[in-house]
Amino acid sequence: MSISKTTLSPKDVDISISEISDGIYRICGLVDMYGITFNQFLINDESPTLIHTGPMGMYPKIEEKVKEVIPLDKLEYVAFLHFESDEWGGMEFLKSPKARLVCSDLSSKLNLTGWYNMPVDHISFWDNEVLKIGKKLIRFIMTPHVHHWDSMMIFEENTKSLFTSDLFMQPGFNKPVLSDDLSEAMIGLYRAVGIFASENPVRERTRRLAGLHPKMVFPMHGSCIDSSMFGKYTDAILKNDFAYTNMLLGRKMEYDVT
Ligand SMILES: [Fe+2]
Ligand SMILES: [Fe+2]
Repeated sequence: MSISKTTLSPKDVDISISEISDGIYRICGLVDMYGITFNQFLINDESPTLIHTGPMGMYPKIEEKVKEVIPLDKLEYVAFLHFESDEWGGMEFLKSPKARLVCSDLSSKLNLTGWYNMPVDHISFWDNEVLKIGKKLIRFIMTPHVHHWDSMMIFEENTKSLFTSDLFMQPGFNKPVLSDDLSEAMIGLYRAVGIFASENPVRERTRRLAGLHPKMVFPMHGSCIDSSMFGKYTDAILKNDFAYTNMLLGRKMEYDVT
């Protein structure tokens, strides 16, 4: 048995910020207990948009970094790509006067409209719908069962930036944009944590994402991946087995489902 308190979510993490490309910032901290970074992305355009918020405990430090780029009262959209506390535990951002919550239609129907004390004022998107946030256009790509039923990803059309949440994640703390190939480590991490029930939906969506020819990929955990390295990661997904067998967050289940 484990007894947990929400206040124990990581709060002593060092957070850094770097501009990856053309007004897109990565706000990053290494969470020791998992050995991975948690990354938030701020797109600074006419309607500034934050993708992921980090868990509640990291909120004050992430807020500080957002404020280095924009005053909080300018923040217009807070997007989360699936329902999990590292993606959107920092709901304090929604107290900013203009901030509106953005999610997938599935997140809206499955989670946001039925829970006690959840913000119901939100905008949800179906596959391929587009939101103009200034010069930049964000396209929503539904990615069901790539980790969660309600998962979606975001593709910014002008800079060809792809925000993939937990797809293409890598362990450790490395440079904001990595030129080494960590695709093998990515596969090892997926096998150890068990976030995908099956390879099939992941491979099907990976083919579609590769067809967008992103210039930069922004996973939520690990470094950004530029176009010269992206093929290594898509190949690894297409050619290796990585779905759940009997490991969850690095811990073996008592039974074997293989
Ligand atoms: Fe997740
Ligand atoms: Fe995540």
